Amino acid sequence: MRTIIYDASNLIDKNFINPRVLKKYLKKAYDAKDTIDSKIKAGELGFRNLLFTNSDIKEIKKYAKGNFGKYDDIVVLGIGGSALGVTALLNSLKPLNYNYVDKKARNNFPRLFILDNVDPDFVLPVLDIINFRKTLFIVITKSGTTTETMAQFLIVFNLIKKKLGIKKIKHNIVAVTDREKGILLKIAKEFALKTFYIPSDVGGRFSVLSSVGLLPAALIGINIDKLLEGARVVDKWLKKKDIMEIPPYLNSLLHYIADVKYKKKISVMMPYSNKLYTFADWYRQLWAESLGKMYNRNGKKVFAGQTPVKALGATDQHSQIQLYNEGPKDKIITLIKIEKSQQNIKIPAEFKNIPELTLYHYHTLQKILNIELVATEKALTKYGVFNCKIIFPRIDEYTIGQFIYFYEIQTAFSGELYNINPYNQPGVEEGKKNIKELLKK
Ligand code: PA5
Repeated sequence: MRTIIYDASNLIDKNFINPRVLKKYLKKAYDAKDTIDSKIKAGELGFRNLLFTNSDIKEIKKYAKGNFGKYDDIVVLGIGGSALGVTALLNSLKPLNYNYVDKKARNNFPRLFILDNVDPDFVLPVLDIINFRKTLFIVITKSGTTTETMAQFLIVFNLIKKKLGIKKIKHNIVAVTDREKGILLKIAKEFALKTFYIPSDVGGRFSVLSSVGLLPAALIGINIDKLLEGARVVDKWLKKKDIMEIPPYLNSLLHYIADVKYKKKISVMMPYSNKLYTFADWYRQLWAESLGKMYNRNGKKVFAGQTPVKALGATDQHSQIQLYNEGPKDKIITLIKIEKSQQNIKIPAEFKNIPELTLYHYHTLQKILNIELVATEKALTKYGVFNCKIIFPRIDEYTIGQFIYFYEIQTAFSGELYNINPYNQPGVEEGKKNIKELLKK
């Protein structure tokens, strides 16, 4: 089975990141590698431990198997790290029309809705179309106290109570939360809810390979073993001695140099794939919350972080690319190419007498999409825009698992380069605190 490929050839070039400059940063990169290596050895990277010691996996698979056919719909209540990963899994690994086709076309797996906002115009249309009796709500919150999730939980709890009776709560709600703390845990115990746990050392944005992502994924028939297998492939790469041969570390280093030396303050992820578009959302959170920090580990004010932006190829060629090519040279762009799409179609040879149309004849849509990627890549390079590329041989559990862990370990590595703590989020907590104070008033 083939792996994803990282291509930095457009970046490491005398007109972009000069190899001589890169060389100067290698000592720092090897120091970061030593630190990560020792953290791995000490078992301190919680998100990495999930690849090897995920005792929940068995339980998740058993639960998914035992409940197959029981529910028509799964509704996830969660936000941030408790929702973005599962959304990305749904869109990348199931057809994009998954929730619109009938049960047979879904191989009898339930639909999956992810409610990651308290916007009533978003929440209610979903609650309106589901049959509560045949719906499983998965409430996911590590802290067990997040406003958006708990507000939705209260609504759902109340509706189940009214529609089905209090005794049904445990048949229709599952909790995913911390093993030791939080209000959700308390409620889960009181109502004997089936509960899956998030290890305390795995932060929300690093949690997609825990029960947070794997439980909903397994319930809709995603092969979670293959996801983890893919992640472990990338983990093996980390054992190499040469940083230039460890793609996630190299990508981290190049982004770091692009930021601190070449002032590329914006990092764009641009998949040429609608299926991967929500992975760009997942990346935005991972990169933003992990690296956007006011203080470094020595307590010095550094205001670290690159602003992650998402774009979609080819759609955003008609929206963003003008700015990327001719606007401020403050960006580094990661293009994502898919070699083999799941579906494809050949352009039929209609209007043979119109030369402007015959050039499309017999090409497949995927071919056109990938030609557009090459065209964009060439233009970006000509305009001097920093760019690199990730290539998927195809989108499946194996490559998605690789991609997830690639970016998780890359982010952890970047934390070392910036000398900041990538695992906390004081800036988010501040807002969370304010919401509660305002609500009390
Ligand atoms: O990455 C993080 O830690 C955050 O984005 C959280 O995932 C988000 O705030 C939701 O938190 P919780 O899972 O505690 O409800």
